[in-house]
Amino acid sequence: MDSDIESIAFTEEQIAAKVRELGKELSVKYADKFPLFVGILKGSFVFMSDLVRAVDIPCEVDFMAVSSYGSGTSTTGRVNILKDLGCNIEGRHVVIVEDVLDSGVTLSYLKKCLLLRKPASLEICTLLDKPARRKVDIHSNYVGFECPDAFIVGYGLDYSEKYRNLPYIGVLKPEVYE
Ligand code: IMP
Ligand code: MG
Repeated sequence: MDSDIESIAFTEEQIAAKVRELGKELSVKYADKFPLFVGILKGSFVFMSDLVRAVDIPCEVDFMAVSSYGSGTSTTGRVNILKDLGCNIEGRHVVIVEDVLDSGVTLSYLKKCLLLRKPASLEICTLLDKPARRKVDIHSNYVGFECPDAFIVGYGLDYSEKYRNLPYIGVLKPEVYE
């Protein structure tokens, strides 16, 4: 797997330090609010598991699965809900946890969809942000790292379902997907 990586974007240590910071920030912001962290599968599963262990207040965890990518490297623009939440979020403080904010299509669709369910508040936490690629107007309330416009994998992020188990985040060699 390592031989398909052109360069390391963020090391395991850099990610761990950043996730601890985000966890502290969320713990202060959501103290006494019993937040519900909603991870967007599959990309967020590694980030989510580290993030909630960096949060030291009572919280709840749930997941949604959506698809918009197929097997390519850019969004198809259509979002389908493959798995919905198992709980009612009316009156709850909800934080969407996502791996990367790219075009913004996925998160803006999800945000609209969850707001209709009348949560007490709704914020977004993404490990990575690629502002240069935004197609819709949306921003993340908590961002780990801004990253360049390159296709990255690892720490939950995949290319065609591969590389999610890399412990760091790396730039995939273009010849792997060209
Ligand atoms: P958006 O709707 O374009 O913002 O797409 C966001 C989703 O695309 C993320 O949840 C990721 O699953 C996926 N994605 C975007 N950029 C990358 C990347 O560089 N590597 C792997 N997946 C990506
Ligand atoms: Mg994703």
